[in-house]
Amino acid sequence: GSTRYEAESASISAGGTIDANHAGFSGTGFANGANAVGSYVEWQVTGPASALAFGYANGTTAARPVDVAVDGTVVAAGVPFPATGAWTTWSTVVRSLSLPAGSHTVRLTATTADGPANLDYLDVTP
Ligand code: GCU
Repeated sequence: GSTRYEAESASISAGGTIDANHAGFSGTGFANGANAVGSYVEWQVTGPASALAFGYANGTTAARPVDVAVDGTVVAAGVPFPATGAWTTWSTVVRSLSLPAGSHTVRLTATTADGPANLDYLDVTP
């Protein structure tokens, strides 16, 4: 099975908060990143990995794209986190990738002034 890394244990750039005001999240809360270009959430994870699944909600009508960086290198640019219909409706964005054994950082960085979607967790599949 996969290993879950909660967003409430991640690093969040300035202006972001851990919130719990939209039901349905995993763990004790979710990351509400600042509404700004460059706003990020970064997890420290352990490989190997073949896929990453990001739990999120986006209660607006527009996708919230992010760059996905592993160990500081962007591996997927402008990945859309589509509208989910409500802030209490949670979905996942899944990316395949090959991550070797050991410790890695996975950072999502917003590329628009809307900032990232509300981010709930990162599931790492070996
Ligand atoms: C609302 C919502 C937040 C969300 C924010 C946003 O304020 O309650 O959870 O993060 O919109 O647009 O990013």
